[in-house]
This record gives sequence, C-alpha cells and structure tokens, in this order.
Amino acid sequence: MPFDTGKPEMSAEEFRLLRDFVYGHCGILVRDDMKFVMQRRLWPRLEVLGLTDFSSYYRYLRFDAQRRAELETAIEALTTHETYFFREPRQLKAFSEEVLPRLERRNARTKRLRIWSAGCSSGEEAYTVAMLVKDSGRFDGWDVEVHGTDISRRVLAVARQGEYGPSALRATAPDKIARYFDHVGPTRVRVRDDIRSWVTFAHQNLQDPETGLLVSRMDAVFCRNVMIYFDTPARQRVLRHIYDKMVPGGYLLLGHSENLINLSADFELVHLRSDLVYRKPELGGGLAP
Ligand SMILES: C[S@@+](CC[C@H](N)C(=O)[O-])C[C@H]1O[C@@H](n2cnc3c(N)ncnc32)[C@H](O)[C@@H]1O
Repeated sequence: MPFDTGKPEMSAEEFRLLRDFVYGHCGILVRDDMKFVMQRRLWPRLEVLGLTDFSSYYRYLRFDAQRRAELETAIEALTTHETYFFREPRQLKAFSEEVLPRLERRNARTKRLRIWSAGCSSGEEAYTVAMLVKDSGRFDGWDVEVHGTDISRRVLAVARQGEYGPSALRATAPDKIARYFDHVGPTRVRVRDDIRSWVTFAHQNLQDPETGLLVSRMDAVFCRNVMIYFDTPARQRVLRHIYDKMVPGGYLLLGHSENLINLSADFELVHLRSDLVYRKPELGGGLAP
C-alpha cells in the first residue's frame, strides 16, 4: 500500500522474507523493530530497479540474473562501516606491548608474521595494525602480511586506495600522521607505501568459509565490531571459521563490547596488563605465553 510519499510500504510478510534472506546470506540480523529502517534503506533500490513493491524486490533478489550484485548492494544499504585509525587504544597497547613481543619470540625461527583484520571496513584497522608492527621495530626484515577482508566491495575499494580524511584520523596522534601518511590535499592523507606494502585486501563473507581468504595460519586476528550484528549461531559460525585459520597459540582480539561468553569454549582468555584478549590454545592445551 503506497504511503502519501508515494513509496510502497513493506508488509510484515515482506519484512520477514527479506530479513531471513539477508540473515541467511551474511548472518546480519535485522531486528524485528527495524522494519521501517529496512524499508527506508531499501526504497532507493526499488526506485533504481523500477519495482513497485517489496515482494517484487524479494523475487528480484532470489531469481534475477543480476541477483548477486543486487544482494551486495542491499547488504551495503543495511550495514554500517563505522571505523577509524587507532580505534580502542587500550587494546592496541596490549597488542603492541604484550602480544607482538610474544609473537616475535614464537616466530623467531620462521621470521614470518600473519595478521588478519576480519571485517576491516575501509581499511583503517588493517593499516593501524601494520603501523603498530612497524612501530614496534621488532619485525624489520621479516615476512609480514596483514590481510583485511570485508563483505562490502565498496569499502574494500576505499581500503585499497588508502586515502583518508579527518574523520578517519580523529584518534591519530600528529606524530603518527607525520610518520605514516603523505599529505595528498589540505585535509586528506594517504597511507605511506612502506605500510601499504604489508597490507592486502580481499572480499570475504565471514558466514561463508568458501569465499575469500585462502591464507591460513594467522598469528593474530582482529575481528572487532563485526559480530555485534550477528545472532548467536552466526557468531559461532564466524568463530569456528576464525579458529580454523589460526595457528595454535594465536591471538584473537574482539571489539571492546564483545566477548565469547556462551559463544565458544575453543579459545582461552588471556589477562594482559592493559587488556583481555583471547588465544587459540597451544596443541595439547598448554598455556605457554
Ligand atoms: C562497524 S565495521 C567494523 C570495522 C573495524 N573492524 C573496526 O572495528 O573499526 C563492520 C564491518 O563488518 C562488515 N561485515 C558485516 N557482515 C559481514 C560478513 N558476513 N562478512 C564479512 N564482513 C562483514 C561490514 O561490511 C563492515 O564493514
């Protein structure tokens, strides 16, 4: 039934169909009270596609030849990509001062370091991690790779470009800006090439282990502020996938409002001086540092 705006209203049944479809694809749970948000965010898609109601849109997503591309656009419209450099400083301090020295000791023989930013959005987190690794001075001459992955191709394109404005830099100290960025405009900077050379980005749906990242044996995984959009089974799927990609003894860093209580017993909690982090147990269950 059209609103007085002339736009079609989403029925309860259409909401249920679309919500379940989105959930099945990427694990994002659109809450029951978010029908109007979903309706508002998808209206522009109906207009672009020339569709008159949400049932037609649902059929388009299921059966049209362009359905894959459209599903990505719909997910795009329904997700948030909020992020910035040096987000959650206490955790980053723990990573720099306690996790990285442990990884240096562990990998001293191979001189190889692999870190994954899962749900990296526009790349700030992956680049921040690379900057911290560089800052530590511990890994010069090592084979270092930082992998950023996300379900949104739009944010990955921004990440690959590596250019940012003031909002992305709101928590970045001036000395870090001077050290790790080139100025490309009055208020725009670009991540310097020595940092970029360690970082790659790839498309990946964390709910679908078949997609994306082929690299495994991660020494540390940042998966911050991604699982907050999932329900328990979807979180558990992601955690199993991450677990499989990690080395025994590797570290998992979640967002500050996230934890593994009632989600996974596979990881052990490690109390560091600055923060709590998780770790995939060593083979045999040892608790070596
Ligand atoms: C709020 S951002 C978090 C960015 C960064 N990790 C941080 O904490 O600053 C959440 C990101 O998760 C991504 N995302 C949501 N569902 C996903 C899925 N199923 N697979 C991969 N990425 C997903 C979104 O596209 C978005 O860029």
